[in-house]
Amino acid sequence: MVKSYPVVSEEYQKAMGKCKKKLRGFIAEKHCAPIMLRLAWHSAGTFDVNTKTGGPFGTIRNPNELAHEANNGLDIAVRLLEPIKEQFPILSYADLYQLAGIVAVEVTGGPEIPFHPGRPDKTESPPEGRLPDAKKGTDHLREVFGHMGLSDKDIVALSGGHTLGRCHKERSGFEGPWTTNPLIFDNSYFKELLSGEKEGLIQLPSDKALLEDPVFRPLVEKYAADEDAFFADYAEAHLKLSELGFADAD
Ligand code: HEM
Repeated sequence: MVKSYPVVSEEYQKAMGKCKKKLRGFIAEKHCAPIMLRLAWHSAGTFDVNTKTGGPFGTIRNPNELAHEANNGLDIAVRLLEPIKEQFPILSYADLYQLAGIVAVEVTGGPEIPFHPGRPDKTESPPEGRLPDAKKGTDHLREVFGHMGLSDKDIVALSGGHTLGRCHKERSGFEGPWTTNPLIFDNSYFKELLSGEKEGLIQLPSDKALLEDPVFRPLVEKYAADEDAFFADYAEAHLKLSELGFADAD
């Protein structure tokens, strides 16, 4: 997709740079990288490539969208970012949430992901049901990510986001982290996935589905063996995710 990024004012650019620094300290101090990444992903992942609705445009803070079942617990992330938003009122929520997702990956040791500002805040939330269901398998993953306009490689690389954080019984019904170091962004999600289920660690049905597919599995093996390859593909896929429906040239 050829992108045509909007030009933002010097003041906006400056606020963004300062905000990025504040977010680095804030996310590190609060240990909230996982939920910030989940917020950015659930904000963007509602994009529908056919109708050009949904996507990373700040609507996730609307009470009706926060109430979508998939978003259980994300009110915490929205609330955590309010004091930062107050410090940088010029920034859109849309940019703030995506910047927080990118910083969450960076400060936990993951790849640097380019950030282009200028996402507008939209008012209308997408309908419920566009985010993936953890109880389902490969066909569902392809369908849901296909609607976003993302590829098989993007699905596997982005699933590596589960290297951060954990499941909370009261939010999703599942419990536990995917790795033994849930505040470090590395390729351990893929290593754990290949090594089988272990006491205390979670593998969702949608994670395990990656092992059963002839296209997905070789990518899981590649990322488990080669962290640089994972970081490169992750950064590319996350950049795409963070810009779904934004700055499209056509
Ligand atoms: C492939 C389809 C996916 C499914 C079915 C899925 C499902 C889930 C579920 C059920 C949880 C647990 C929520 C909770 O109980 O707190 C979760 C957490 C999380 N997800 Fe995903 N997810 C998917 C893809 C992704 C992607 C693409 C990313 C980011 C690139 C991501 C990042 C996260 C993070 C960081 C957490 C941990 C949140 C925390 O610790 O509070 N997930 N996901």
